[in-house]
Amino acid sequence: MRIAFFDAKSYDRPSFERYGAEHGIKFKFYETKLTEDTVDLARNCDGVCAFVNDQLDAAVLDQLAELECRYIAMRCAGYNNVDLKAAANSGLRVVHVPAYSPYAVAEHAMALLLTSVRRIHKAYIRTRDFNFSLNGMTGFDLHGKTVGVVGTGKIGRVFIDICRGFGMHVIAYDKFPAQGTDIEYVTLEELLSRSDIISLHCPLTDETRHLINCETINLCKKGVVIINTSRGALIDAECLLDGIKARKIGAACLDVYEEETDYFFEDFSGHILNDDILARLISMPNVIVTSHQAFLTEEALSNIAETTVLNLVQLHDEGACDNELRFVGGEVKRGR
Ligand code: NAI
Repeated sequence: MRIAFFDAKSYDRPSFERYGAEHGIKFKFYETKLTEDTVDLARNCDGVCAFVNDQLDAAVLDQLAELECRYIAMRCAGYNNVDLKAAANSGLRVVHVPAYSPYAVAEHAMALLLTSVRRIHKAYIRTRDFNFSLNGMTGFDLHGKTVGVVGTGKIGRVFIDICRGFGMHVIAYDKFPAQGTDIEYVTLEELLSRSDIISLHCPLTDETRHLINCETINLCKKGVVIINTSRGALIDAECLLDGIKARKIGAACLDVYEEETDYFFEDFSGHILNDDILARLISMPNVIVTSHQAFLTEEALSNIAETTVLNLVQLHDEGACDNELRFVGGEVKRGR
């Protein structure tokens, strides 16, 4: 099998080459993202392997079908950038990696939170300059604080366990609350009004787009810390910025950003950033931005490559896959 691998980074290659070779899959690595302009690179391939910022809309999917590609292997959990209806119409089979390391993402969310509330990002820069002053470095204890977790799936639950280890009080909101757990579920409004810290772990859907907006920010406690390691568009970035400027939001920890596609994963140092909202957010002392790196651990990379390869092998050999995303009767069904 030949698979065109888009948006390839140096850290992707070793594990994909290894698992691919074990199962007879040859990956053709391209640094460029998949777009209407680059789709032709998939010519003579059985499918494409794509990531969070690749373009998989109807236009690109139609072209892939014309090139006689059959498989779309997403090497990530989220699939909000794939038009699954268009894929089904074009006869393309889509697979993803539903779980590879919920620990990687949940631990990163906590790393961002600790960095923010204990001003580690400031201390790192100060002490490198032999500035040992503590002025402006006062943080707050996490112990005893209320954290609101939106989305209690795989990552959300690991994050809940971590927070409990810190002695925090956890409340949660999920459209489909988990049964038989000791999680204290509340409405979204109650979560917003009671939480000292809010962490987003739900998928991006039409319903969750701009879940954090000017109105919902108004419902929050003054000084709330907002963590987003899920998808950028869960937050209306302009409202977030306004909330920070108004001192309503105490801090923001962002691994994802609404308009990240043009910037994240690339080196823009020495360039003028055209996105004024992102530039302003980054300039704030109480905002920490990482560029969609929550997944990036050795364990996760290895699991992603292994599952992606096995997904392709299953589709090819068995004609079905446990991690297939099927668009049936107007909705997305997972599995065979
Ligand atoms: P999951 O599918 O296990 O859990 C998602 C949870 O969100 C489920 O409990 C679901 O019921 C809930 N949910 C669905 N619709 C909702 C709504 N309207 N309101 C509230 N809750 C809702 O997914 P998992 O593995 O925990 O991942 C969560 C998200 O994390 C993914 O959708 C993805 O966008 C993001 N992610 C980010 C990564 C990063 O590197 N920053 C890496 C991996 C995932």
